[in-house]
Amino acid sequence: MYTQKVLDHFENPRNVGEIENASGVGMVGNAKCGDIMQMFLKINEDGIIEDCKFKTFGCGAAVATSSMATELIKGKSIEEAEKLSNAAVVEALEGLPPQKIHCSVLAEEAVHAALEDYRKKQAEKAQ
Ligand code: FES
Repeated sequence: MYTQKVLDHFENPRNVGEIENASGVGMVGNAKCGDIMQMFLKINEDGIIEDCKFKTFGCGAAVATSSMATELIKGKSIEEAEKLSNAAVVEALEGLPPQKIHCSVLAEEAVHAALEDYRKKQAEKAQ
């Protein structure tokens, strides 16, 4: 039912944890399953995501998709990270069962929420 990649990221999730004084933090949840995902980004002055960590209180697919999402955006620019889609996360995991696609949507939303928080903080700093 799950690909080896999904199982690998579930059993050995990458980049788990929090970043203190993160440049951007995003928290999203799915009302139906009750799962929650938190994403922390450290973005440098050149707009590159230097570090990225997550905490997921949810199903195995949610853990695997958030782990993969951090791998996909680490070292990338803000613009590239903004383009991250749940489809790209699913593809990188070599597929997810249809009933688990919403878990990958949560990962996409968590990244976007953290980027939005970063932009908000930057705008506040500029004032
Ligand atoms: Fe809801 Fe996986 S079952 S995020």
